[in-house]
Amino acid sequence: MKIINSIHDMQTFSQQQKSDGKKIGFVPTMGFLHKGHLSLVEEAKKRNEIVVVSIFVNPTQFGEGEDFDIYPKDFERDKEMLENMEVDVIFYPTVDEIYPKSYNTYVDVYGVTDKLCGASRPGHFRGVTTVVSKLFNCVLPDNAYFGLKDAQQVVVISKMARELHFPVNIVPCPIVRESDGLALSSRNVNLTKEQREHATVLYKSLKKAEEMIEDGCLDANQIKQVLKDEITTYQEARLDYIEVVDFDTLEDVKTIQGKTLLALAVKIGKVRLIDNLIVEV
Ligand code: PAJ
Repeated sequence: MKIINSIHDMQTFSQQQKSDGKKIGFVPTMGFLHKGHLSLVEEAKKRNEIVVVSIFVNPTQFGEGEDFDIYPKDFERDKEMLENMEVDVIFYPTVDEIYPKSYNTYVDVYGVTDKLCGASRPGHFRGVTTVVSKLFNCVLPDNAYFGLKDAQQVVVISKMARELHFPVNIVPCPIVRESDGLALSSRNVNLTKEQREHATVLYKSLKKAEEMIEDGCLDANQIKQVLKDEITTYQEARLDYIEVVDFDTLEDVKTIQGKTLLALAVKIGKVRLIDNLIVEV
């Protein structure tokens, strides 16, 4: 497994592989890997001769006062996990390599970035679309793998790739969960033992809402109320948002029909957790 730090070396490597007729599968991450990330690597290995994983904690997608400084890191552990999975390359650039002094170019996707996480984290998606564009230009992937854990990110990046004509296929992958339903996240390590136990309230509430929808309750407001009631049974949980939106446009829906995203963000202690479920009626 190669570890590549420079943009130039990454591009040279990818150009060589492409001229040899090999397909490149790419999994962008911020490191501190878990089984959720590894499921994307697994998926990438199925349909590409070469798999590249990037590890880069991207400063431009963190807002003022967010957890950039305490974002967990363990490169040696990540390296071992990726080596075991027979990944071909870790692209591991420094912040200065990606954002040199006086850097001032950004990619903005409008509309779908205004709500959900975009509303509570202004500038977050601008950072994500900027870094993902840059990483695409470094890695030159044929296929890029993103988890539906960050469903809005999948919608935003798919739109960006389509509208900016990136020659890459965006592949959405299912959410990987702990046995008690909590979605795996690098941030879960920052929960105390008690908070961790109660964090299952996110998935439990989504499952309850799904059951109600299956039983014929299609009123979005009623579903949101149930989600709210369930989550607030845990006193330490502070709601950031609960949304019921069309999966493609992220527009609010009044009556649930077609592919609908139930999405929530909840703060438990200092940790902001997100989760979602897609229902199809
Ligand atoms: P990060 O949070 O490290 O996540 C990297 C990828 O892993 C994302 O596509 C995310 O959706 C996926 N992922 C995380 N937890 C998952 C889970 N439990 N099940 C399935 N997939 C999961 O998302 C980012 O990094 C950054 O925004 C990035 C795209 C790398 C740009 O900086």
